[in-house]
Amino acid sequence: MAKARPGRKKLKSGGCPGLTSGHKAATPLLLINIRQLLTLRAGSAPRRGRELAELSIIEDGAVLCEAGRIVAVGKTRDALRDSWLKGKRKRVREIDCRGKVVLPGFVDSHTHPVFTAPRLVDFEKRTAGASYEEIAAAGGGIRWSVEGVRRASREELAQHVLAALEGMAAQGTTTVEAKSGYGLSTEAELKSLLAVRDAAAHWPGTVVATLLGAHVVPREHLRHPEKYVREVCELMIPQAAQQKLAEFVDVFCDRGAFSPEHAQSVLQAATDNGLGTRAHVCQLSPCTLAPLLASKPASFDHLDFVSDEDVERLSRSQTVATLVPGANYFLGLERYPPARRLIESGAAVALATDYNPGTSPTTSMPFILSLACTHLKMSPAEAISAATINGACALLRQNSKGSIEPGKDADLAVFDVADYREIAYWFGMNRCWTTVIGGELREHK
Ligand code: NIG
Ligand code: FE
Repeated sequence: MAKARPGRKKLKSGGCPGLTSGHKAATPLLLINIRQLLTLRAGSAPRRGRELAELSIIEDGAVLCEAGRIVAVGKTRDALRDSWLKGKRKRVREIDCRGKVVLPGFVDSHTHPVFTAPRLVDFEKRTAGASYEEIAAAGGGIRWSVEGVRRASREELAQHVLAALEGMAAQGTTTVEAKSGYGLSTEAELKSLLAVRDAAAHWPGTVVATLLGAHVVPREHLRHPEKYVREVCELMIPQAAQQKLAEFVDVFCDRGAFSPEHAQSVLQAATDNGLGTRAHVCQLSPCTLAPLLASKPASFDHLDFVSDEDVERLSRSQTVATLVPGANYFLGLERYPPARRLIESGAAVALATDYNPGTSPTTSMPFILSLACTHLKMSPAEAISAATINGACALLRQNSKGSIEPGKDADLAVFDVADYREIAYWFGMNRCWTTVIGGELREHK
């Protein structure tokens, strides 16, 4: 199947983040002879502790999809004997998945796709020994990316977002959270969210938009950060909410970004405007999560420096701990987030790419699974649950995404591997054979 060339497509405005773009497959789709079908059915959502490793595998499995939904899941021999199917077989498109693994499409619950250019100078400086924070203080980092976004048209930004979404789908991702955060003015943040909406309208998967106006304080407000926090709370958040441009508000609460007090104000404004919350926390330095938990965030992300006390707090909350080891890898850090401590305490752990130009320029969930196994010491089964059902929980989509069960959206990833552990084993190569989104077959090698 020919790959779409997003760079050449002309985008029209429209669509709505959070909604699939109306691509409802007309022809029912039947995947048969699946060597390992990872259903992740039953169990609790989110998965915690030992449950995280339960994949509910069906060998020689089959999945029937119709009108964008999963309608039946079972053994191939039972599917082929089914009287409903016998009557309809001629108008069902059959895909032979012999020797392959099928799992729920990945839910990448943390990405920053609205930027225009890679940060190559930062990259080179780091190879010469400079740290992320030193580079930011010297004029690189997030603020460097702002100029490009402010200058770019909405359409140009949408092209960048769509190219990233296509890259994600080719590697098994079917649901993506997309943050703004490189505009840092009301106008440029809203333009970024409109670009996310436009790109989402041209992609069959599900895009969940997040306003990250509070990423860092923009250069022009450095002397008076509180003025910028006021702009975020009193202009940006209300306007994003009124125009239904975002479902969540995020804030970067850390050294060099926003203080816990400012972060609390941002999350409170989100709640007051009917939006969900999430936050970047403890990425560069320790912080206390208790005050931020008041807004009941859907997720706390990064958590490299999380304290034992807060791990305990997380284990008693519904907030998902989203780990993004791509950032640790790309920054060349020795320290990785404490996945084992979180899992063993009963916190709900998810994995995401954190796709962005400064710390994690990758769209590949399989690579994140590889890092989770090699550096976070998660098992391949735990990594898969964290990247599917728990990612869905981090976006409050557990009722429609993240497992292969009748009634859920027909979003599937098919890998050309004989054993699910290979998905996390191979790295730097794409073993995703095809992606089914809304019951429609996508990439096909
Ligand atoms: O998740 N930490 C905040 N935001 C991004 C980095 C953004 C950038 O450097 O461009 C992250 O790592
Ligand atoms: Fe991030």
